[in-house]
Amino acid sequence: MGLPNIGGKQVDGLFVPPFPDPHPKKSSLFWRFVRGWNSWIHVLFDKSYTMKMGEIRTPGLHMYIANELPLVKRIMSNWREFPKHHLLVRTLEPAIGNSVFSANGDDWATQREMINPAFQQAALARTLPMMRDAADALVSRIGYLDLSHPINIDPLMTHVAADVIFRTLFSQALGDADARRIHHAFNRFQRHAQSASMLRFYRMPTFGFVKRSRRAAEDIHSVFASIVQQRLDAYRADADRGPDDILASLMEARHPQTGQPFSFTDLMGQVSTIFLAGHETSASALSWALYCLAGDPETQRIGREEVLSVAENRPIAAESLRRMPVIRNVFRETLRLYPPVAFMPREVSCPSQMRDKQLETGAMIVVSPWLIQRNAEHWPWPHAFHPARFDDPSAKAKSREAWLPFGAGPRICVGAGFATQEAIVVLATLLRAFTIDPAPGAVPEPVARLTLRPKCGIKLLFSRR
Ligand code: HEM
Repeated sequence: MGLPNIGGKQVDGLFVPPFPDPHPKKSSLFWRFVRGWNSWIHVLFDKSYTMKMGEIRTPGLHMYIANELPLVKRIMSNWREFPKHHLLVRTLEPAIGNSVFSANGDDWATQREMINPAFQQAALARTLPMMRDAADALVSRIGYLDLSHPINIDPLMTHVAADVIFRTLFSQALGDADARRIHHAFNRFQRHAQSASMLRFYRMPTFGFVKRSRRAAEDIHSVFASIVQQRLDAYRADADRGPDDILASLMEARHPQTGQPFSFTDLMGQVSTIFLAGHETSASALSWALYCLAGDPETQRIGREEVLSVAENRPIAAESLRRMPVIRNVFRETLRLYPPVAFMPREVSCPSQMRDKQLETGAMIVVSPWLIQRNAEHWPWPHAFHPARFDDPSAKAKSREAWLPFGAGPRICVGAGFATQEAIVVLATLLRAFTIDPAPGAVPEPVARLTLRPKCGIKLLFSRR
């Protein structure tokens, strides 16, 4: 039942990393429930990968999936007509409250305007040294491990991604205990939130899963609530904005009409959003990128040569980032195969016609990077890891619309540039320090809940260079 099928196989000499075997036919209502309980991608069937538009009914929801690119464009650019679906907003509320990721309409537009400055080019340049420090700290952490055995990289990637966000949000490094706490709490949050969503889709009581997801979210908040409170108190008392970081930019943001700053609750919502949206996704992408590099030693070798020729043992500078096309392509290709946000659910806010279907108000319409980016119509060898495909000029034109791991339209990820810079720094730093090999017999299984993660981690062998 949808177990990973072809981890480690080669197609035309290319490495094919694992993904769940699609079912031959659409599952019954019962099996959709059973399979969807743990992972959305385990519900997919053969035709899901090729159809232009699909439709699924559950007792509590009428859901459509739009794969055809013009439809995708229409949905993603019309943020008023197709807002974030209220079931997603409810699922995320314990973790991120009403914040830029979950808000809709004018409320969203205002929040987006207020947080944008924290992610502009100048702000990005300031984060580079902090990313380098976090990557160096990761190398030291790995150095302390017993490298004669495979190591599970999932918690390590969560730690480095959370550390990057911590340093750039608060100008502080993240301690080991807090990193562990966040890793476990977010895993719990994802599991309980997934269960609550499935039960709602089937119009069933949520049996305490919402309460449990709230407790997990509170655990995450406890790691940074006091930092936000102290910084805000200092700012309110004598306009001391503290170090030049993302939190400072958020405290200084003003509502474009009323001139009001974010309240403490608003600020906690935005900080939680940036923290969660910004580290879970990056951690997932980094884990899969390392797995793919281990499975494709030639790309790993070329990537390492590129890093050594551009930066050797010097700190990675801003201009070096532009001179690492192989590493950048590895990141792009990983995001194509394993988009951390595999499904983007929207709500039909007024009756709409799409292809031969009349969509009713309240229905869910889903855009799926996972499906679009593995569609053979857009991508040759759709399931194979082939970073060099992005060098092909015809692929460049295609990738503009059929590559959307950061979303598309006005609600596109505000942290896309940040995440790309972070991934290049971390991957380059690791390739310089270690050779990475697959652990015999350890094939990871991707599961898609709120984000796409390896079900039982990813084990790899590291050797010092
Ligand atoms: C590989 C890393 C990342 C991936 C794949 C990713 C993916 C996405 C996607 C797909 C969306 C849009 C969701 C939708 O339209 O339903 C999104 C939105 C968002 N992301 Fe990211 N993200 C990443 C990293 C980051 C980082 C590093 C940050 C912040 C530091 C961040 C902050 C946000 C925020 C605040 C939004 C909401 C934007 C809005 O609705 O206006 N993300 N991200």
